[in-house]
Amino acid sequence: MKNMAVVVMGCGGVGRQLLHHIVSCRSLHAQQKLHLRVVGVCDSKSLIVASDVFTMELDDTFLVEVCRVKSTGSSLLTLSNSGQHKVFSNPEAMRKIIDIATLLGRSTGLAFVDCSASSETIGVLKKVVDLSCCVVMANKKPLTSSMEDYEKLLAYPRRVRHESTVGAGLPVIVSLNRILLSGDPIHRIVGSLSGTLGYVMSEVEDGKPFSQVVKSAKSLGYTEPDPRDDLSGMDVARKALIIARLLGRRIDLDSIKVESLFPVEMGPNMMPVEAFLENGLPLLDKGVQERVEKASSNGNVLRYVCLIEESRYEVGIQELPKNSPLGRLRGSDNVLEISSRCYNQQPLVIQGAGAGNDTTAAGVLADILDIQDLFP
Ligand SMILES: NC(=O)c1ccc[n+]([C@@H]2O[C@H](COP(=O)([O-])OP(=O)(O)OC[C@H]3O[C@@H](n4cnc5c(N)ncnc54)[C@H](OP(=O)(O)O)[C@@H]3O)[C@@H](O)[C@H]2O)c1
Ligand SMILES: *[C@@H]1O[C@H](CO)[C@@H](O)[C@H](O)[C@H]1NC(C)=O
Repeated sequence: MKNMAVVVMGCGGVGRQLLHHIVSCRSLHAQQKLHLRVVGVCDSKSLIVASDVFTMELDDTFLVEVCRVKSTGSSLLTLSNSGQHKVFSNPEAMRKIIDIATLLGRSTGLAFVDCSASSETIGVLKKVVDLSCCVVMANKKPLTSSMEDYEKLLAYPRRVRHESTVGAGLPVIVSLNRILLSGDPIHRIVGSLSGTLGYVMSEVEDGKPFSQVVKSAKSLGYTEPDPRDDLSGMDVARKALIIARLLGRRIDLDSIKVESLFPVEMGPNMMPVEAFLENGLPLLDKGVQERVEKASSNGNVLRYVCLIEESRYEVGIQELPKNSPLGRLRGSDNVLEISSRCYNQQPLVIQGAGAGNDTTAAGVLADILDIQDLFP
């Protein structure tokens, strides 16, 4: 039986779903002679760690309890110490994480799994990579800060996986990597990488007012609590940057031209979210409707896409042929069209659900299994 030691950072929707997947896949993994040994779980304030990281683990009953506590909105600090595990709060928790990485990284091996939504994990991730640990990310922030951080984090690319950062569980990164490895030059990538904006653009195409569509997207739970977090395009821009960097482009987030679907004067610093929804949004209806109609008169549709070409990095609304994979897209699916020498006349198309705790966590779990050969 091969044992893979794992530390899960972040215990929100994705982190908890990952722990549930790990527990429910026990017999499947056992058939593959593999055991995922969860030695630590942390949230924003604290870390829970097995009393002896060489021989012990947080057992399944306890992992389920951790998930239950976190789903009530409590901190891990509400769990008390036992013979099996110890609880640490910051800043001691951070030191403890480095201790574990130092102990296990070069001996049994250790996978750090970033399921947080924080830009603060990057410091820890860079350190643990140096200590020979593996890193799996659902979190986009560490990959989208400076180029210097990116290169440190990917100094040993075989030890790093981040499939779920683009298109959740969809095989986007792995497909791009295979094309790149085969030396097939990629000329163009265009994709709809926000379920929220995919839904919004296909609904306004049917003639519904933009403001109504955004509000119903919010009530369906498709948007962030403040829909401007989706409408700003910044989340799509981070995904575009991750793809561009994978293609070898040494660029930063501000190299990407991003179109926000609301003007600066309706931004989060200028207007509370209620005012935006009630008074701001309806002012945008007419402009969106005119663009939809103009596109339609050209036989086209509007999609909010990320576009990567030779030296073009854009995130925003584009007019696309109705009869293309992106033009046919309805609802909240993600779609990525990749054009290369081999995929020339017809692009390679990857489509499916691009969000959700379940598919995202499944992508993370597959990433963890994918690095098992690096463990002794
Ligand atoms: N949900 C999706 O559909 C989806 C799809 C693709 C990618 N992702 C990415 O997956 C990540 C997780 O998403 P989510 O929806 O699970 O987020 P979430 O529910 O907000 O959970 C974030 C978790 O990270 C913890 N955290 C914050 N700062 C931390 C730090 N410095 N160190 C360790 N843990 C920290 C939080 O702790 P507290 O509990 O103490 O606040 C919380 O438990 C995000 O980066 C997101 O962009 C999500
Ligand atoms: C993901 O998990 C969070 C936290 O449990 C929950 O609020 C959210 O509704 C879940 N999202 C989906 C799409 O299931």
